[in-house]
Amino acid sequence: MIEMDRWTPITKIENVPLREGRAVTVGDSEIALFHLEGRYLTIENKCPHKGGPLCDGIVSGTTVVCPLHGQRFDLETGMPVLYDNPAEVGADRIVNSVAAYEKYGGPCISVDFGTATTFDCVSAKGEYVGGVICPGIGISAEALFGRTARLQRVDIRKPARVIGTNTVASMQSGLYYGYLGLVDGILELLLGEMGENCKVVATGGLASLFGGGSKYIKSVDNLLTLDGLRIIWERNAKPQAAAAARTQGSAKPASDKPSKPWPGSKSRR
Ligand code: FES
Repeated sequence: MIEMDRWTPITKIENVPLREGRAVTVGDSEIALFHLEGRYLTIENKCPHKGGPLCDGIVSGTTVVCPLHGQRFDLETGMPVLYDNPAEVGADRIVNSVAAYEKYGGPCISVDFGTATTFDCVSAKGEYVGGVICPGIGISAEALFGRTARLQRVDIRKPARVIGTNTVASMQSGLYYGYLGLVDGILELLLGEMGENCKVVATGGLASLFGGGSKYIKSVDNLLTLDGLRIIWERNAKPQAAAAARTQGSAKPASDKPSKPWPGSKSRR
């Protein structure tokens, strides 16, 4: 982490063309400075994979692609996104991953029970490595209600017993235990790939319901997405303020320390 007691000129903004990066030195660190439509974002210039110069990477949206082996890094979150096409990953999935890694450490899996249920995996090094997308329990229940003439709507809840002795109880059992089996089945497979010490945190509307019954979900965090938004905002607010001040030639000293950096993103300044 770079801590700055005062503003330090690092380059002239005209030296950084739009959607390109330049290597600049701040203290003992070399960082890659990128110009994105009036914003200036930074990341450590040395790729965590094998040291590739990220300043020479191709910029697409807010992602930079390492010029050596193609690993991709999100410049706003600092999180390396190991998806075939990082732009495909829903913002909410990255936000959850940022928060899960910051709050619980890596490796970790966040499970978000929304319209779709998403499982998002972050490595021990803080890389977004991918995940799983399933139809949410609400969608599954609607299909059951909508495509069967004689089955009524029921609340989704944990029934007292697995064996239902009437139609409502049988449907509730099928929905709850069927979906719990899906969740734990996927988590078992994911943990096989991520390792036993991987943390699992759930969020979303029905996280408490399924978190309580799951063998693998150890934490339920209803604020995970909001915390992720806050963390990302904090990481971007200071660098943007700093860039604006530099643009205006301000000599105002920085008073706050930067927030916790990501791997490959020692400084956002
Ligand atoms: S050095 Fe291999 S992906 Fe960057």
